[in-house]
Amino acid sequence: MEKERGSFTGKIGFVLAAAGSAVGLGNIWRFPYLAAKYGGGIFLLVYLILAITFGFALMTAEIALGRKTGLSAIGAFRALNKKYSFVGYLASIVPMIILPYYSVIGGWVTKYLVAFVSGQTSLAAGDSYFTDFIAQPVEPVLWFCLFIGLTAIVVLFGVEKGVEKVSKIMMPVLVVLSIFIAGYSVFLPGAMEGVLYYITPDFSKFSATTVLAAMGQLFYSMSLAMGIMITYGSYMKKDVNLNSSVKQIEIFDTGIAFLAGLMIIPAVFVFSGGDEAALGKGPGLMFVTLPKVFESMRGGTFVGAAFFLLVLFAALTSSISLMETVVSIFQDKLKWNRKFTCIVVLIGCILIGLPSSLGFGVWENVKIIGLSFLDFFDFISNSVLMPIVAFLTCIFVGYVIKPKTLIDEIKLSSDFKREKLFVVMIKYVAPICIVLILISSVLDVLGIFKI
Ligand code: PHE
Repeated sequence: MEKERGSFTGKIGFVLAAAGSAVGLGNIWRFPYLAAKYGGGIFLLVYLILAITFGFALMTAEIALGRKTGLSAIGAFRALNKKYSFVGYLASIVPMIILPYYSVIGGWVTKYLVAFVSGQTSLAAGDSYFTDFIAQPVEPVLWFCLFIGLTAIVVLFGVEKGVEKVSKIMMPVLVVLSIFIAGYSVFLPGAMEGVLYYITPDFSKFSATTVLAAMGQLFYSMSLAMGIMITYGSYMKKDVNLNSSVKQIEIFDTGIAFLAGLMIIPAVFVFSGGDEAALGKGPGLMFVTLPKVFESMRGGTFVGAAFFLLVLFAALTSSISLMETVVSIFQDKLKWNRKFTCIVVLIGCILIGLPSSLGFGVWENVKIIGLSFLDFFDFISNSVLMPIVAFLTCIFVGYVIKPKTLIDEIKLSSDFKREKLFVVMIKYVAPICIVLILISSVLDVLGIFKI
């Protein structure tokens, strides 16, 4: 079968699609929670510095690898050095693991959007609504299939008519919704205390773990170390300015994360009377606390519906990037056509996602190293494989093909002012920091050391 490789039409299409991948569930519930926990403004500051140094170097390297070779992860590594194609394979496993469970959560979001749109606000704010819902054997699976089905339809249409077009519609809507909800939240009576808590640096909370937590979040948030940016880079035209594209993607990703904090922290503060514990980590914040916050607000049904629409768009553009990456890997490797590949990936994804969905109900007692299926997949991909892939990518670029190979690629479309920073980051700083993240997150899960 013939392979057809598409491309983004221009810079805006590329930046919006890559930002669509980067802006996701991680920005909306994980970032605000981490910022609140690690000292508010100080976390924001550390995150920002890391984004323009560490994040910038890794994202630039991945996009340049893709654009230089015109191939997705496996092919890209192999084309530059045969011995390192295993890094491409490792990177490719990550989106295959993430896509199914990410779509299970995407299904929950879709369910909540429909609940708010149909005015079931007080029902959704009920104490056991969430736990009862995810424990059911059939309903969450149907929402999961709907979500992954929507994703597959977009990917089926290809890079230009599917991914790019959808990003060009969803991303501007996402920005408008974020500004609207953040504005609403900040002006709630009594919200200022929460805003100040969020943005005032608390230097006493600064420690090495602040940096590690910010770095871990940065990775996930910028969709690094899983072949996505390599794949998207491979669809980028040679005359599109790579350097300034990376800057814009970072501004997008960090900006939406910051706005999410402004949406959530003040509203939760007002609701809980200033109790930080209400910002609890994980699904609890988004699916349990926030619906209660919306119920207590004037116009909360409308704001809640707008919020879950925002989350749905953020999650969809991310899952599209995951599926596009997986499809592109199969297409490059096996030369299947897009339609057939999409169907195979869709079926595979549903099968792999099922245990993650059922793990909250009928398979509740099945645990792997003490984790539910969903948490286990999340741990293996984010805490183990991603740091390993990022580390190997740095070694590959820094010492095997040498940074100059990519710098030449970047300079095809613009000058490269941060060239020195790029080299220092890729060769020295990033690999060391990544090893530290890997060690700390593994120890964290094994319960030996808590960050
Ligand atoms: N970057 C996305 C976020 O911040 C998460 C994501 C991870 C997206 C993996 C795609 C792939 O939520």
